[in-house]
Amino acid sequence: MHLFALFCFSGYFHRLAALELTGPGAVSGLWGRSVSVPCQYHERYQETPKYWCSGIIWQSCSKVVETTGSEAEVKRDTVSIRDNHTLHMFTVTLENLTLGDTGIYWCGINLRSKSDFNFPVSVTVLQGESLLPSLCGTAEPTCSSR
Ligand SMILES: *[C@@H]1O[C@H](CO)[C@@H](O)[C@H](O)[C@H]1NC(C)=O
Ligand SMILES: *[C@@H]1O[C@H](CO)[C@@H](O)[C@H](O)[C@H]1NC(C)=O
Repeated sequence: MHLFALFCFSGYFHRLAALELTGPGAVSGLWGRSVSVPCQYHERYQETPKYWCSGIIWQSCSKVVETTGSEAEVKRDTVSIRDNHTLHMFTVTLENLTLGDTGIYWCGINLRSKSDFNFPVSVTVLQGESLLPSLCGTAEPTCSSR
C-alpha cells in the first residue's frame, strides 16, 4: 500500500530529528469524542511557534492551528493546541471527532525554514460499532448507520 510505504519512508528520516521533536506516531479516538496528541520537543524550542498540520506530505500539508510560541491555547473549530514550556510538550486536542478527521497529520516546530522539525501522526477515528465487530453481521444494514 503506497500510503503505508510513504509513511514508513518518511518515518526513517524523522527518526533522525527525534531528539528535537517526537510524537505518538498513531492515535485513535471514538467518533463524537476527543483525542489528544502530546508532542515532546527539546527545551531549546520553548519560545518557538508550534503547529499541527494536516496532509500526507509535510511539504504540502495545511496548518490547522499554530501557537505564537507562548503557552496560550490557540483554537480553531474543534482543534486546539496548547504548549507547556515547563514540560517541553505541546498538546493538540481534536474534539467532536468525525470520520473525516481520520488521516495523517504533523506536529511541527516552526523554524521559519524549509527544514522545520516535524513528526507524522496517524489519526484514526473509530465508530462505536467498529469496536463490536462480532455483533455486526455484514448483511445487517442498521449496524453501520449512525
Ligand atoms: C461539540 O459538540 C457539542 C454538541 O453538539 C457542541 O455543543 C460543542 O460546541 C462542540 N464543540 C466544538 C469544539 O465544536
Ligand atoms: C504545565 O504542566 C505542569 C505539570 O503538569 C503544570 O503544573 C502547569 O500548570 C502546566 N502549565 C500550563 C501553562 O498548562
